[in-house]
Amino acid sequence: MDHFLYRDGALYAEDVPISEIAAAVGTPFYVYSTATLLRHYKLFDDALEGTDHLVCYAMKAASNQAILKTLAQAGAGMDVVSGGEYLRAKAAGVPGDKIVFSGVGKTVDEIRTALTGGIRQFNVESEPEMEVINAVALELGVVAPITVRVNPDVDAKTHAKIATGKSENKFGIPIARASEVYARAASLPGLEVIGIDVHIGSQLTELEPFELAYTKVAELTERLRAESHDIRRLDLGGGLGIPYARSNDAPPLPVEYGALIKKTLGHLGCEIEIEPGRLIAGNAGLMVSKVIYVKSGEGRDFLILDGAMNDLIRPAMYEAHHDIVTVQEPVPGVEQQPYDIVGPVCETGDTFAKQRNMPPLAPGDLVAFRSAGAYGAVMASEYNTRPLIPEVLVHGDQFAVIRERPSFDEIINRDTIPVWL
Ligand code: LLP
Repeated sequence: MDHFLYRDGALYAEDVPISEIAAAVGTPFYVYSTATLLRHYKLFDDALEGTDHLVCYAMKAASNQAILKTLAQAGAGMDVVSGGEYLRAKAAGVPGDKIVFSGVGKTVDEIRTALTGGIRQFNVESEPEMEVINAVALELGVVAPITVRVNPDVDAKTHAKIATGKSENKFGIPIARASEVYARAASLPGLEVIGIDVHIGSQLTELEPFELAYTKVAELTERLRAESHDIRRLDLGGGLGIPYARSNDAPPLPVEYGALIKKTLGHLGCEIEIEPGRLIAGNAGLMVSKVIYVKSGEGRDFLILDGAMNDLIRPAMYEAHHDIVTVQEPVPGVEQQPYDIVGPVCETGDTFAKQRNMPPLAPGDLVAFRSAGAYGAVMASEYNTRPLIPEVLVHGDQFAVIRERPSFDEIINRDTIPVWL
């Protein structure tokens, strides 16, 4: 459920007409709903009720400071994957002891930043990284809390580019080698081993892969405890999928996911962490764009929008489907017609949808890409010198620009000319 609904024939974000935002900020833009963000966070928090837990929002999904602050004020921790994300989380007011640091290539500088500013734990991804974290901690005179990310060799049954839990993926250490790696970690004086981490992929639409992975984590917990490691925290990653197409079967609900966690791991008495990103932000955001031209091609009509692949890359990169709706509610019974919906970038890959049935559209009409709140704005670029599009946050009947569209001067002046030119 989200808070983007038609009211009196027009699409609203909570209590604000989308057309009003478009008139104020121009198109294209991203708009997020505070109520949806908070609702989704709370679904996870409630799903783990009765268990000692922390929901660490995977801020890679949408990392605007205003979004982070909204979630942080509700009690969320953060999952970060770079020094930049760490600093963003801190700047949004998240205390260090609610920040977990994931990612396969943490640099010395990033590790130092986190150890200096405070960190809940590092999710260690390899033995060399473990040695480096130990060395930096010793240099700073602190002890770094760590989990080791294990790769359970489970098929997440998702798009190959976002599956992470198979042995051929670059993530984590093979679960079969865990005893050896944990023994080494325990011998390093700069580290304190506190738990296990796992994350098998993103946009999972079934519970079974989670069940397989979490069952392996339960077994591993018992094995490592028997080897006298104090395993007291389990970080279970993110990955629960969202319904991108209204017509599709809905993926499992957070409450079902929470029940699975309790069933597979509840008996261990560990503190549970989860790192959802997409489910919190995805359906909390739209990308709104305007029709520039309707062009008749050979046997098909193209809807050329002012938004493009640089603004929302998911269709080009993952063949992802996003529902696209008109901002003006279609007249009941109006005959739909198929369009190829494209952006103005000079690549055929700049195609959002092929032969998508839409009500008849004309230049100037607004459309909204649903489910664009996660991995939308954060993956945007300025390809074709198209400015990063603004982000807007709605709260009830208020809205605010939370990131401005840069001017062309700002973009051009970011480059500097060497002395010889
Ligand atoms: N934790 C870790 C260690 C991760 O790598 C990820 C996502 C998450 C949590 C959050 O997963 P989520 O709950 O959002 O599924 N750009 C792609 C998705 C990449 C996901 C990367 N890792 C897309 O647009 O589909």
